Order: sequence, then C-alpha cells, then structure tokens
Amino acid sequence: MIKINNLTKVYKLGKKKMMELKTTNPEKIAVNGLSLETREGEIFGLLGPNGAGKTTTLRCVATLLKPTDGDVSVCGFDTVKQGADVRENICFLTNEIKLDTNFTADYMFKFFGELHGMTPEAIEKRQEELFTQFGINEFKDKKIEELSTGMKQKAAIAVSLVHDPKVVIFDEPTSGLDIITARVVTDYLKTLKEQGKTVIISTHIMSEAEKLCDRIAVIINGQKACEGTLPEILESTGADDLEEAFFRLYKQYNPEN
Ligand SMILES: Nc1ncnc2c1ncn2[C@@H]1O[C@H](COP(=O)(O)OP(=O)(O)OP(=O)(O)O)[C@@H](O)[C@H]1O
Ligand SMILES: [Mg+2]
Repeated sequence: MIKINNLTKVYKLGKKKMMELKTTNPEKIAVNGLSLETREGEIFGLLGPNGAGKTTTLRCVATLLKPTDGDVSVCGFDTVKQGADVRENICFLTNEIKLDTNFTADYMFKFFGELHGMTPEAIEKRQEELFTQFGINEFKDKKIEELSTGMKQKAAIAVSLVHDPKVVIFDEPTSGLDIITARVVTDYLKTLKEQGKTVIISTHIMSEAEKLCDRIAVIINGQKACEGTLPEILESTGADDLEEAFFRLYKQYNPEN
C-alpha cells in the first residue's frame, strides 16, 4: 500500500537555520536511503529519537515534500508524478497542521467534506458516525480556539477522516492526550485496521507501539535501524522489551552517546 524506496530527503538550510542549528553545513540529511513497505490491514509504527526523520518521511508519503532521491508510492500512485491521486487516498495528521481556530469542528468537517467533492448527505452521514465515535457532538459548535488539546486533536482526526481514506498517516496521534482520549484514538486506529485500511503512525510511546502496531521500524539518523514485528525486533536485538531494544539500537548508531 505504501512503498518507500530508498528515500533520501536533504533540507537546504538558510543562514538563520544554520545559526539556529549551530552548523556551517548548508544541507541537512533528514532521511538517508530509507526503504519500507506497509501492507493493507496493518498498523505500521515509526519509532525514533527526536530529529530521526519520522515526520519528514511521513510528509514525503503525504506528498507535502518532494524526495531528494528515491521514490514513494501509495496505492500504486507515485507521490511526485501522481500527487492528486495519492491525496485522494490518504489522510495526514501532524502537530504542525492545525484546524483554523476561528471556525467550529462542525464547519471544518463540512468544509473539508465539500473540498473532497462529497454530497451534503454523505458528509452528514460521515459526520454523525465520526462525531459520535470521538464524542465531538457536545462541542461541535464551539470555536476551535475554545477547545482543549484533546478536543482539538479529536476534531482534527475526525476532519482528516471525512473522505474515508484507504491510507491513514498520523504523526504522533496521541501526543499530549490523556490516557482516556488516547485510548479513543488508538481504538479507532484498530477499527480502521479491521476495515482493511493501512495505518502508519509515528510515536514516542513505547507501550503504544508494542500494543498497537503490527510492525515497527526504528529510525535513527534518517536510516532504518531495525524493522519487524515486536517479537522479531526483540529477537534481533536480544532485548526483553521495546524500550530496551530501542536503547540498544540507539547505542549501536551513536556509540559516543
Ligand atoms: N524544514 C526544515 N528545514 C531544515 N531542517 C529540517 C526541517 N524540518 C526538519 N529538519 C531537520 O531534519 C531532521 C529530521 O526532522 P524530523 O522532523 O523529520 O524528525 P522527527 O523524527 O519527526 O523528530 P521528532 O521526534 O522530534 O518529531 C532534524 O534534524 C530536523 O532538524
Ligand atoms: Mg516529528
């Protein structure tokens, strides 16, 4: 469903960014020759330390960034040459993308439904389903700016799913959520998987990756350090749990730290 083939993404740094990062190198290799493939009906997890290249990878999959090298396809469509086809089949959620704070969840949902070319009846039906699932009805007419972090995240997730996409790309979907709200989100990801959708998420929460993901890739310094099911990763690293496996892989890639 998602095929990432030898993906490399190099950011060109402006002077300000170079100063910020305290570097004289005008290029930053964020993703370095990464390949992976996700299947239908699975939840695939990207794990990795801060700055490992997870968001960059997901943005390339979502057609928001053009690979410097390599290619990515979603449902058989190339993310560069057939971007519009890819966008029809995906939804993408990341911390950096926020709903417009002046509008209500109800308005945003209908607005995005229309953008996707859905009929008012189809939008209504979908809204009923998703707003009930995420408990949004009680605050659907409040402005986004008046909502709590969890409410905003639930609204953003529901809006992103309006067109019932085949592939769901969520960057740290439960970051900042309490365990009850996080559970609503992870339960829904399981429902999507049961419906045969492909789900790819990034997360820093080891227990979430352990419980939720069918397969996991550990990304370190823009490269794939390990990939497999939880038992496969534990076996290949000789660790008892994912956190320990993560530390071992991190040490391998960063022996000086
Ligand atoms: N727009 C940009 N311009 C320059 N460098 C960038 C840009 N976006 C990301 N980077 C750099 O690319 C690298 C990978 O960043 P990315 O956001 O993909 O990491 P991440 O794995 O998502 O990290 P986190 O866990 O903190 O979200 C980092 O070194 C980051 O500083
Ligand atoms: Mg990130």
